[in-house]
Amino acid sequence: MGIKFNEELKSFKIDAKDTSYIISIVDEEQFIGHVYYGEKVPDEDMNYLMRLDENPFVPTKNNRDRGTFMDSFPNEYASHGLGDYRESSISVMTQSGVTAVGVNYDSHVIYNGKPKLEGLPATFGSEEDCTTLEITAIDKHLNLEVVLVYTAFENLDVITRSVRVTNRANESVQLRKVLSASVDFDRSDFDMMTLHGSWARERHISRRKVDLGKQGVSSLRGQSGHQVHPFISVMDPTATEDSGEVFGFNFVYSGNFIAQAEGTQFDKTRVVMGINHEDFSWKLETDETFVAPEVVMVYSNEGIGKMSRTYHDLYRTHLIRGKYKNKKRPILINNWEATYFDFDTEKLLDIAREASEVGIEMLVMDDGWFGERSSDNMALGDWVVNEDKIQGGLKNLVDEVNKLDLKFGIWFEPEMVSPDSDLYRAHPDWCIHIEGREGVLSRNQYVLDFSREEVRDYIYESLRKILSSANIEYVKWDMNRQLTDVGNSILPADQQREIWHRYVLGVYDMMDRLTTEFPDVLLENCSGGGARFDPGMLYYSPQIWTSDDTDAIERLKIQHGTSMIYPVSSIGAHVSDIPNHTVGRKTPFETRGIVALSGTFGYELDVTKIPQEDRDMIPKQVEMYHKFNDLIREGDLYRIGNVFENPEFDCVEYVSKKKDEVLVTFVQVLARPNHRSRRIRLKGLNKDSYYRDQETNKVYSGAALMNGGILIPVMGGDFQGKLMHFIKE
Ligand code: GLA
Repeated sequence: MGIKFNEELKSFKIDAKDTSYIISIVDEEQFIGHVYYGEKVPDEDMNYLMRLDENPFVPTKNNRDRGTFMDSFPNEYASHGLGDYRESSISVMTQSGVTAVGVNYDSHVIYNGKPKLEGLPATFGSEEDCTTLEITAIDKHLNLEVVLVYTAFENLDVITRSVRVTNRANESVQLRKVLSASVDFDRSDFDMMTLHGSWARERHISRRKVDLGKQGVSSLRGQSGHQVHPFISVMDPTATEDSGEVFGFNFVYSGNFIAQAEGTQFDKTRVVMGINHEDFSWKLETDETFVAPEVVMVYSNEGIGKMSRTYHDLYRTHLIRGKYKNKKRPILINNWEATYFDFDTEKLLDIAREASEVGIEMLVMDDGWFGERSSDNMALGDWVVNEDKIQGGLKNLVDEVNKLDLKFGIWFEPEMVSPDSDLYRAHPDWCIHIEGREGVLSRNQYVLDFSREEVRDYIYESLRKILSSANIEYVKWDMNRQLTDVGNSILPADQQREIWHRYVLGVYDMMDRLTTEFPDVLLENCSGGGARFDPGMLYYSPQIWTSDDTDAIERLKIQHGTSMIYPVSSIGAHVSDIPNHTVGRKTPFETRGIVALSGTFGYELDVTKIPQEDRDMIPKQVEMYHKFNDLIREGDLYRIGNVFENPEFDCVEYVSKKKDEVLVTFVQVLARPNHRSRRIRLKGLNKDSYYRDQETNKVYSGAALMNGGILIPVMGGDFQGKLMHFIKE
């Protein structure tokens, strides 16, 4: 069992694969203290780390200095208003106006397996894979019960955390803040890494020193967002891709969040993660429970790369679900960049015919097929087929596409409504809005109030009708704006601040309905590109559109940043036309294919219009995809080049779990004058095995490839790409 309670020491030892996490119950008052998090240790008694025999003593021994104790004690779930001035984990507002809250140990249970989080996505595991500890902690003044839930994964360096709060008082209370995890590290020498960006520039990496005070990222956009990401990691300042201690925190949630590191007095660092408490409030009636989403904590003692590989393994096996979880995805062609809104049945069939000839496997009809949608100014919410464009109807189109031996997929933006739509004209109050205030438009659209069941039911029915009307095998679920004017005319004033979270729960409910009723449909999430690429969404869809920027060179950074946490099997990547529609860059077709291979792979161009020599390359790319996708999707990813640090090249290596097959993808961003070949060193091989280069037929030892490296021949010109494939002898 991965979790033990030592009665005598009153301490819990949570062991994941090579990780230990220790918690102790301290003093007669039963404070819940954080003792240790890091590489696995055999020791059970590490309570000395809490310095409880040094000044300030625990309150029973020295209540005179209780305040100092509260402000320095390493707390597993920090109180508010009771002397701990670092970031609190929880706060409330009682009916008499009290905000202070602090919970102490009451009881615990340890069991095999992992509980579900009601209404929320979360990682899952069997009784063999996981052990769970639930510590029930109580604020006896408020009759508030907080259950801290920890699950350790037996075969991965993963510990997950979540929290349940129940009001046991006989009157309601407002929860003002409920974070999901707080870890007090007894050290201050940390760097931190976060992911940042913008539309078309998602998940660029930022690394900086953790300083005194609070620093981190947060979203108040109603989604995880292009700009920030629900992820933070703290690491040794010397940590590299392959060495050093790294602690990752990723939030399994798709709404407002906070991820923060705080350098505090006494050289400590508090890392917290949870729902953003700004503008949050949740009314709990007597005996009602609030469930806070899950934080996935990953520990690596072998640098950033191992942290990523652990997240990849966890998400591939314990988060992503459904038919396509372990399967190669059909190579799709999407008509967005090919036609934008200007298409009809004939145009789509032209594309499909050509696509089928070159080996593409699915046609996806993007935005513009419904209602009066002729541009992005109208018709969102009117999910009925526009038969002026789709002449002959949807079933006819899908049947024709199927006859070409292609699957068919469709785009929806279910959460949105255009002011110029039949839906808005019929139900102007169905969007999120503040009574009497004109709503902020974004892309000329409003957000439907998915916290309301009747709104969800109506939209679900219209989606269901479409999906049941033809053989649709893929859905792209888009969300093209963020939330403003958060209010509605339904909830009472003291529950209005719940809308943010209720909205996210509503989205999850819709995705749950969709994936339950249509289990064979491949769902791809999307949000103006990659604004909602988060583990919450991955629970429902095995792949997510990574960015609207399809330029191969821009994608190197975007995909590099995304791969920090997410497996390549989830990274939506397509070959598009040049000049690239976002940056105007011209890259070779071959390189665009190589970059898209590090993802789900597909095309986003008008295959009837691209140059003949590009078109002729597609069958070869299709072949490459089929040859390498199992390895790319299931293998271990090693980053060799880092375009953030060295913008000259990018290099990623995939090694099969058995270490018997290796693929290296290399992109030379800029050609170098007066240079010879470039030497790169491979990683993760068996040093004693021999590997044959499939192109040159030369054989090298794993030791040579990892220590001496391999030469990438000189390539003339910018934006050149190369693949190298090795098979173990
Ligand atoms: C978003 C998506 C695109 C495309 C458009 C359609 O921007 O990211 O891929 O679907 O919407 O409006």
